[in-house]
Formats: sequence, structure tokens, C-alpha cells
Amino acid sequence: MNANPYLPVKVKVLEVGKQTENVATLKIESQGLNPAPGQFVEVSIPKVGECPVSISDFGSDFLELTVRKVGRVTGALNALRAGDSLFVRGPYGNGFPLENFDRRHVVMVLGGIGLAPVKGIINRYYLNGGVNRLDLLVGFRTPQEIIFRAELARWREKFNVVVAVEQDDPGWPGRVGLVSDLVKEISVEREAAAVVVGPPLMIKAAAEELSGRGVAKENIWVSLERRMSCGIGKCGHCRINDRYVCLDGPVFNYRQAEGLVD
Ligand SMILES: Cc1cc2nc3c(=O)[nH]c(=O)nc-3n(C[C@H](O)[C@H](O)[C@H](O)COP(=O)(O)OP(=O)(O)OC[C@H]3O[C@@H](n4cnc5c(N)ncnc54)[C@H](O)[C@@H]3O)c2cc1C
Ligand code: FES
Repeated sequence: MNANPYLPVKVKVLEVGKQTENVATLKIESQGLNPAPGQFVEVSIPKVGECPVSISDFGSDFLELTVRKVGRVTGALNALRAGDSLFVRGPYGNGFPLENFDRRHVVMVLGGIGLAPVKGIINRYYLNGGVNRLDLLVGFRTPQEIIFRAELARWREKFNVVVAVEQDDPGWPGRVGLVSDLVKEISVEREAAAVVVGPPLMIKAAAEELSGRGVAKENIWVSLERRMSCGIGKCGHCRINDRYVCLDGPVFNYRQAEGLVD
């Protein structure tokens, strides 16, 4: 651990995978950073800036970050190539309480880049098992924005995977509509747990639908995004009421989060 918590470590980009025109997956050296699923790192590029990014997967010697280009830092991250360097500090936040999903029916409702924080967890369930049943309901605005296409196809071998897009497209053979509406179409077992990640409106709609279907709010886990600066509970940027999203979250159960989602 660095004595100065703001001091990042320099890491190399090992591989870059282009997901869509605006989303890239960077596999980077882990340099001893040892995350838990659902945690995030603060990523920086000198003379550009710093921003929080979820860890979309990790192994003993790598971290994977999946970044959507929306501005300066995420744009610069999308322009990186294998062999380039960047700086990271963390990992921060609490991550998902995986013990709550053991041997249960788990419903995941994920919107867009919201698939990133849980991709590693789904891969682990795909490879090693651990849940009784997994329904993966995933939504994107358009077919062009679908990320992790190869993984979604692979996960279909073992799980119920439904992908919906909001805007119809002549070449799209799949579902059109809001991902939160897909919850209405699945059976939900007693004692089911759920994971919901995406934009605030989607989180609210999906969590309310799940709660209406009998999933206890304590068993619905959401990951919140907030504008952050320090990432370590010092600056107050991410504070909502008495909660610091960077420290107390970003993962909250919906009982805790229902008043925190805009
Ligand atoms: C805990 C946490 C985890 C995150 N994980 C990921 C991740 O895995 N992948 C990823 O791509 N992003 C993730 N984000 C969002 C990411 O941090 C922001 O997109 C980033 O801070 C934008 O910085 P920028 O310098 O590129 O854009 P800026 O130049 O700061 O902003 C450019 C424009 O983008 C808008 N903008 C800023 N933040 C967001 C946002 N979150 N969503 C939509 N528009 C935004 C601004 O309002 C502005 O209009 C995460 C955020 C948090 C808090
Ligand atoms: S980002 Fe500074 S307190 Fe959370």
C-alpha cells in the first residue's frame, strides 16, 4: 500500500480489445493490485486527468477495464494501444457480496456499460458454477452498442441470456424494448437474489419490477455511479445524504439505495 493514498502506480497496457466504436477493453498489468468483483480503480493519464472505472475482470497478473468514451479521460483511455502506460490507484469500494448469491436463483438486469462491473462474476459462474440458476437480462440502446458479444454467446450455453435493444434496427433479429420489462417474462424463485447495474432510471424500473415480483429489496444489489474525485471518502463529491458512494458503495442493496437513486 502506498503511504500517499493519491499516489498511483504506473502500469502497462497488455492488450486492447475494441468492443464498439466507443468502447474498448484494456487488459493492464495488475502490479499487485488485488481487487474484489465490483470494485473500481481511479485511472489517470498525465496531462489529461483521472476518472473511476470498474474492474470488468481480473486475474493474478492482470486487470481488465472496459471504458466508454464520453469525454477527455475516457477518450484518452480509448486511444491507448498495447505497450502504452497509464496510472491506476485502488482498488476502491466494496464490491458485490457474492456469498449472498451462493446456490440461489440470481437475476441480473444490466444496461449498456453496466455489464462491465459484473462480467468477471458471470465468467466465474460460467466456469466454476456456484449459483442454481442465472437469468441475464441485458439491454443496449442500439445493436451497434452491444458489448461482450462473444461472452454473451458463450454464456447462453449455460444461462438464460436475453438481449434487448431500445431502438429497432432492420438487421436486429432480437428483442426490442426496455430491459426492465424483460423481468416480467421470467419466473422468479423464492429467495432469489438480483443484481442491477445501469443508468439510474433503468435501475429504478428494474429494481421496482423485481421487488414487485417478490425479490426482497435486501436481496437486490445495485451498483451506483456518481461523479467522483478522490475515490477514498475525502472530498465529498460522491456523497448522497450520509453515504459516500466511493466508500460505502458503489454496491448497495436496494433497501439502502432506493433513496439514493435519482
Ligand atoms: C464507481 C464508478 C465506476 C465506473 N465504471 C465505469 C466503467 O467501468 N466504464 C466506463 O466507461 N465508465 C465508468 N464510470 C464512468 C466514468 O468514470 C465517467 O464516464 C468518466 O468519469 C468521464 O470522464 P471524462 O473525463 O471522459 O469525461 P468528462 O470530460 O468529465 O465529461 C464529458 C461528458 O460526459 C459526461 N459524463 C461524465 N460522466 C459520465 C457518466 N458516468 N456517464 C455518462 N456521461 C458522463 C459529462 O457530463 C460531460 O458531458 C464509472 C464511474 C463510477 C463512479
Ligand atoms: S469521491 Fe471523494 S468522497 Fe467519494
